Amino acid sequence: MGWSKQRLVEVARTRLGGAKLIVVANREPYIHRRANGGVELMRPAGGLTTALDPVMQACGGVWVGHGSGDADRETADARGRLAVPPDDPTYTLRRVWLTPEQEEGYYYGFANSTLWPLCHQVYRRPTFDPAHWAVYREVNELFAAAVLEEARGGPAVIFVQDYHFALLPGLLKAARPDLVVAQFWHVPWPNPETFRVCPWAGELLDGMLGNDLLGFHIQYHCNNFLETVDRTVESRICRERFSVGRGDRQTRVLPFPISVDPDLAAEYTVGWQDRVGELRAAHGLGDRPLVVGVDRVDYTKGIPERVRAVGRLLERHPEWVGKFHLVQLGAPSRTNLPAYRDLNAEVQTLADAVNRTHGTADWQPVVFVNRHCGPEDIYALYRDAAGCVVSSLHDGMNLVAKEFVTARDDGQGTLVLSQFTGAARELTDAVLVNPFDVDGLAAGLHAALAMPADEQRRRMRRMRAQVSDNNIYRWAGMLLSEASKLVPDADPPEVVPTAAPATLPFIRAAAATTLTTAGGLL
Ligand code: G6P
Repeated sequence: MGWSKQRLVEVARTRLGGAKLIVVANREPYIHRRANGGVELMRPAGGLTTALDPVMQACGGVWVGHGSGDADRETADARGRLAVPPDDPTYTLRRVWLTPEQEEGYYYGFANSTLWPLCHQVYRRPTFDPAHWAVYREVNELFAAAVLEEARGGPAVIFVQDYHFALLPGLLKAARPDLVVAQFWHVPWPNPETFRVCPWAGELLDGMLGNDLLGFHIQYHCNNFLETVDRTVESRICRERFSVGRGDRQTRVLPFPISVDPDLAAEYTVGWQDRVGELRAAHGLGDRPLVVGVDRVDYTKGIPERVRAVGRLLERHPEWVGKFHLVQLGAPSRTNLPAYRDLNAEVQTLADAVNRTHGTADWQPVVFVNRHCGPEDIYALYRDAAGCVVSSLHDGMNLVAKEFVTARDDGQGTLVLSQFTGAARELTDAVLVNPFDVDGLAAGLHAALAMPADEQRRRMRRMRAQVSDNNIYRWAGMLLSEASKLVPDADPPEVVPTAAPATLPFIRAAAATTLTTAGGLL
């Protein structure tokens, strides 16, 4: 049986056995901003929130996140809570307020200037600033207090997201050993040689080993993590079970490749022709084939590399002059950091140079749309494009690749995909490229543009089946099921109650349903 929203609802109901689900993610799924004299609702760019929102809509519960919008306070209650999605509420968003200094030290500082470059092997030197580290600890404590408040008075499963919260699992377990704590690390985990330069490596690992379950996208990152633990902290590592033991506690370390909700595409592509018509007119695209890139403007995404590759393609294959456009949607991201701010300008400069060298009076090969675009425009472009290019230099998964595939209900279109993404392990029918190799990337673009329709269909059929089977509901279902099995004092599932008695500790109810509900699936 395939995974659907309904099946996840069922798994969450039976496995959670009445325990509250609390997701913690720095980025909130709904941001309120002041705009045009009123308040505007914004959906942030970035795979994490897009992937988790449908899961929370299915399961219900609380999402604890940073209230980052300038109209966030006035749209929440005194405790920072509001029901979301605002037009059809299914779960609670609990906003945590940070001072500008906390946002600076924790988010821009330790999370995005230390851990982000440390985990992505793209040759950016991480900063190691003790002041950032102190604020990162402080903010992890602040979130721990909010989570503990939300979890008060009953069993709860805490599902922590990403590198913003390496210390949170340890803090939660210390305060409430009965909580089930799982964390998903959405970015790669580097090899031990890379990680050990971090002056606070031991403390970060201590925090993460507070988890009952720790997930990465791929086995390779799990292996790197276990190696890192082995060399850094005292522990017992079991390579058969993929677990780390410390004292009487165990942390299992397993791969869960994240994905998308394939049904979203159908929602967003309604009326796509009209939208595309407007976009084509606005950007002078005529009816030429498009290759689209959709990214946050981030130095891990290989955007300059792909613009250069367009230049190289036009040198090598002048037959493409005047025949296609690269439409690069680039949502500005983390722009308080010079590395990110400068990248917007760098991409624009490169695009201008390629356009100057190869463009004509009425044709510009590269169209850089340097703003936040809504999902309706993005999906319309996916649906219309001849191809999509994902040239990340290093990426845990990359959900743009999977979104593109789900948008192609016509079975057409080619995907040019960096071999350094987690997605490349699953989407082996993409044109796989090394984005550091400009000639190889240009050859990949050529192959994608020139691919015969029947080969496109063959490849797209297999990729669509892969994403449809391994969708976001499977990811969440597997994680929740695994988390529910892992609590140390779980009783074996001997008795199968029809309904979880309210007094039964969470994990007994959860474990008891293991065999009946989804026992064969995991
Ligand atoms: C990556 C990270 C996420 C993050 C997203 C957007 O996917 O793994 O944790 O939410 O980028 O970045 P931002 O800093 O805007 O949240």
